[in-house]
Amino acid sequence: MEELDIVGQIVGGKTAKILIREKSGEKIELGDLLVVEEDDALVILQVCDLSYGSQVPQSIRELIAGLKLEGYGTELSFLEPQLRNYVIAEAKAIARVEGKDVRIPKSLPSFFSTLRRVTEKDLSFLTKPPNPVYVGKVRSGSKVLDVDVFLDGVDVFTHHIVIPATTGRGKSNLVKVMLWSILDQPNFGVLVLDPHDEYYGRHGKGLKEHPKAKENLLYYSSTPIAGTNTLIVNLRSIMPWHFQGIVSFTDAQWDAIRRYYNEFHEQWIENIVRGTEIEGVAPRTLEVLQRKLDNVLGVYLDDAGNIQCRNRVFSETAGITTTRDIANALERGKKVIVDTSKLSDEAELLIGSIVASEIFYRYQSYKSEGKLDDKPVVSIVIEEAPRVLGSDVLESLGENIYSIIAREGRKFRIGLIAITQLISLIPKTILANMNTKIILGNEIAVERRAIIDSAAQDLSEDDRTIASLDKGEAIISSSFTKFAVPVQVPLFESYIEGSEKKDREEIVFVG
Ligand SMILES: Nc1ncnc2c1ncn2[C@@H]1O[C@H](COP(=O)(O)OP(=O)(O)OP(=O)(O)O)[C@@H](O)[C@H]1O
Ligand SMILES: [Mg+2]
Repeated sequence: MEELDIVGQIVGGKTAKILIREKSGEKIELGDLLVVEEDDALVILQVCDLSYGSQVPQSIRELIAGLKLEGYGTELSFLEPQLRNYVIAEAKAIARVEGKDVRIPKSLPSFFSTLRRVTEKDLSFLTKPPNPVYVGKVRSGSKVLDVDVFLDGVDVFTHHIVIPATTGRGKSNLVKVMLWSILDQPNFGVLVLDPHDEYYGRHGKGLKEHPKAKENLLYYSSTPIAGTNTLIVNLRSIMPWHFQGIVSFTDAQWDAIRRYYNEFHEQWIENIVRGTEIEGVAPRTLEVLQRKLDNVLGVYLDDAGNIQCRNRVFSETAGITTTRDIANALERGKKVIVDTSKLSDEAELLIGSIVASEIFYRYQSYKSEGKLDDKPVVSIVIEEAPRVLGSDVLESLGENIYSIIAREGRKFRIGLIAITQLISLIPKTILANMNTKIILGNEIAVERRAIIDSAAQDLSEDDRTIASLDKGEAIISSSFTKFAVPVQVPLFESYIEGSEKKDREEIVFVG
């Protein structure tokens, strides 16, 4: 067997803080994966901190530095510097691997063991699950290993995913990569509410480039491009409960809405906009409701008495099947991107709420009929998730369909992929239900605290590592992975080039 280079040796410490003396010149990095070989197993350690060590007392080191700096002896140096001064790496043991069996280590690796860097072979236990969602390659510090990391979509989508990171660290890129890898898998329907119109690839590369996009990807936009769908939602498909937890109404306004709904059923919005007066609703309340509907939906009555919509997304006449079509597509395992970039926040969340409620309702009845297991898992991607999952929002507006899905969607095979810069705004009770966190870089200490506190593995030593994650560098902490797996997410554009090439190669191979 080939000898692998030794990079250090264990010299002390305790469970989550094993101290390793670095072999000089090895440049151990934060996040590096190191391996101790034991008789029957491998122990994988991850570096979480680095410090200097020295045999020379501090006062002497300072003196020698002073002499050098002040020009008293540029020739001065330590006796055998690599022996007397060194780097101490702090590491924690993250996995004990015995063949295919991987566990959280419950004992310390032997004292004075030597360590080497992890190799691809050490990680051969990371296999492709039945419903693979691609995340990236295993990363050791900033070095990328040629080992693919897949999560099982049925597991992770039904138990929700949170992707927390500071802006620009690669959250949207990651979701694009994941979606690309499942675009041809009919076991998943995914709804993407896309406030920045960045997933489809209207400008540049996007999911539309996928070889199966034609069959499996739908794009709805108020400014559609050739071959895609116009986003028009009929006012009659919007029910009062779709506003629940998303738009704030006073009790009097809710009461008025109820009265309009009881009187006019699905034509309740039209009648409010037209100003139809009904018993029990004060003209002032009616006026406020008209103003709110204008704010949220952009609908108003023009001088000729016709209902108009400023963003052209809501209509009195067209779009009667849109939300049902979207729900149908999700139920057939399609991926649906809704470009909400021209809409207000509330209108975006409302459209999501209509579709999500429809799916939730359908899946609830499938469950009671015993048919749910034949249905694809449905996942909803929501950017800036605290808009619907934030404590303050939930406190002031009450539960909404997204928070309901976060709490109990699992029972009905419905999940969220919640993207956020501010995970600290999401209540712990909801985070506890979201079993997979794909953590990208974060420089805000409060956010890192919230991430670490809600992670599936003990990440208490990883604060500095998370702070130092570069673009696309991530840690997957999930109840479906044995340990928190460091990964490098590929840049979407390079990833799809690679997988397009792979497709071609496979075709050549088969032919
Ligand atoms: N895995 C990656 N590898 C290399 N570069 C990346 C990677 N992910 C993202 N980037 C670069 O960073 C830029 C920002 O990425 P992205 O839009 O995904 O960030 P974000 O976290 O979604 O930001 P925001 O919070 O603003 O939505 C990308 O345009 C790309 O150039
Ligand atoms: Mg983004």
